[in-house]
Amino acid sequence: MSGPLLEVSGLSVDIRTSEGNTFPAVEDVTLALRPGQTIGIVGESGSGKSITLRAIQGILPGAARVSGGEIRMEGKPIDPGAGHPAIAMVFQDPLNSLNPVFTIGNQIVETIRFTRRCSRGEARARAVELLGDVGLSEPARRMSAFPHQLSGGMRQRVMIALALARDPRVLLADEPTTALDVTVQDQILLLLERTQAERRLGMVMVSHDIGVIAQVADWVMVMYAGRIVESGPADRVLSDPAHPYTAGLLRAVPRMDDVGTGRGFRAIDGQPPTLATRANAGCAFQPRCPSATDACRTSQVAPTELEPGRQVACLHPEERSSRD
Ligand SMILES: Nc1ncnc2c1ncn2[C@@H]1O[C@H](COP(=O)(O)OP(=O)(O)O)[C@@H](O)[C@H]1O
Ligand SMILES: [Mg+2]
Repeated sequence: MSGPLLEVSGLSVDIRTSEGNTFPAVEDVTLALRPGQTIGIVGESGSGKSITLRAIQGILPGAARVSGGEIRMEGKPIDPGAGHPAIAMVFQDPLNSLNPVFTIGNQIVETIRFTRRCSRGEARARAVELLGDVGLSEPARRMSAFPHQLSGGMRQRVMIALALARDPRVLLADEPTTALDVTVQDQILLLLERTQAERRLGMVMVSHDIGVIAQVADWVMVMYAGRIVESGPADRVLSDPAHPYTAGLLRAVPRMDDVGTGRGFRAIDGQPPTLATRANAGCAFQPRCPSATDACRTSQVAPTELEPGRQVACLHPEERSSRD
């Protein structure tokens, strides 16, 4: 019987602005990730997705600081801000994450040798194998390529190989396909899914695109203004959203049967609040919410359990099974 691989409870992160003010960027985020499971975190830009992953990985920007909560890996607390060797991360922009002055082979070999004791020759053989695993043709020859000599899709494959070089048990992926052409996006998502399943990794993928999350996640968490507003099994949350924000995100996805009808594809009106304009009372989504009432402006909205494992932080959840 194996417990959760990664557990985050009550994680909060503050950001200090250049004027010296402190704002909460992430508040009270809780999740439990099992081996072989993919959690998808979705929310508009600025909702705190990257800060959440960076806090888990221990690579927060200088302005950010973990202000509360606990992170456990295989039951043992890990120091927030320090990370864990078995947690690896793939970023949106592989060009900025790869070192431009070293060959990709060199970077993977160094990572392998940093992770486990082995000879250079063994590390090299393992690096070639990893490049093959992530779908690079002629991997032995590609070892001597520099990052700028590869296409965006190939660079993202190299980033995935570099993450796997650490023998991770948890893979964090921050918008891993957002910077890529649509045709390449699908290939990279499929590669991540296959990699995760074959190695029984726990994966947390964040994206602003609920379509991407729907493709990979078996558990969905919806984030708004630094908080998780809805979470649950992907099939339930995506087919029968409870939070009006989740429903809005889903309505903004163009659907095949709507093409040419003028229906569908309605972006949510308004903008999410900035760190400085987040309300400190009531629901953060309330100014944009079609269901908001006076109570939403004043009451704290604590998450409540709708069904086993399924939570929503809303005073007026959507009616069940009544979408459209
Ligand atoms: N280095 C930073 N300095 C100041 N503010 C930041 C920094 N990084 C992120 N933020 C702020 O923290 C909030 C959450 O950001 P982020 O986690 O990057 O959002 P997301 O990944 O969901 O788009 C945003 O309001 C963003 O402006
Ligand atoms: Mg981000």
